[in-house]
Amino acid sequence: MELTEAIKTRRSIRKFKPESVSHETLEQIVAVSAYAPSWKNSQTAHYIVVEDPEKIRRIAAEAVLGFQHNTEIIAGCASLVVLVSTAKKCGYEKDGSYTTSKKDKWEMFDAGIAAQTFALAAHDQGVGTVILGIFDEAKVAEIIDLPEGQNVSALIAAGYPDMTPPSPVRKSVEELLEYR
Ligand SMILES: Cc1cc2nc3c(=O)[nH]c(=O)nc-3n(C[C@H](O)[C@H](O)[C@H](O)COP(=O)(O)O)c2cc1C
Repeated sequence: MELTEAIKTRRSIRKFKPESVSHETLEQIVAVSAYAPSWKNSQTAHYIVVEDPEKIRRIAAEAVLGFQHNTEIIAGCASLVVLVSTAKKCGYEKDGSYTTSKKDKWEMFDAGIAAQTFALAAHDQGVGTVILGIFDEAKVAEIIDLPEGQNVSALIAAGYPDMTPPSPVRKSVEELLEYR
């Protein structure tokens, strides 16, 4: 798929067909996602695909901060990607001090780039995704048994689309761009 077309036609998909995404396809998506830029090329983003139906059920039921909308999305996806980041790397000097006034916010910045790269690479394979920000980080970490030193940056529900959502209205170039 041509890049501009891919960027413009990617939509958040919130309803999926029952079939799961094969490991081969997931590996192709992650092989492309590996090209996402990162803080000092630290590449701290890591993709944990939760396929165990019981773990997906528990995350949907127990780790969405009561946001029922996300419960339905997660419960209906065959592959739930937990995007995790290694703590205390992005935004840090080797001695553990912060490099900039943004402190550790660069960790989430990198995760955001990784998430969009993953979403576009998935779209290119015909796989739909939605990035989910409303979740209980500690609960997700407990359910997937995440080791210390790893943060849950985002959830990405993935699967074959069972909906064709309209494109939400976007701001115009005039609103987005200015010159000084
Ligand atoms: C950081 C972030 C968090 C989001 N969290 C949620 C969420 O918790 N639940 C949800 O349904 N969509 C979530 N979305 C999807 C947005 O609602 C969606 O990207 C936006 O409405 C634009 O639609 P589009 O992705 O189809 O272009 C999130 C997107 C981002 C980037």
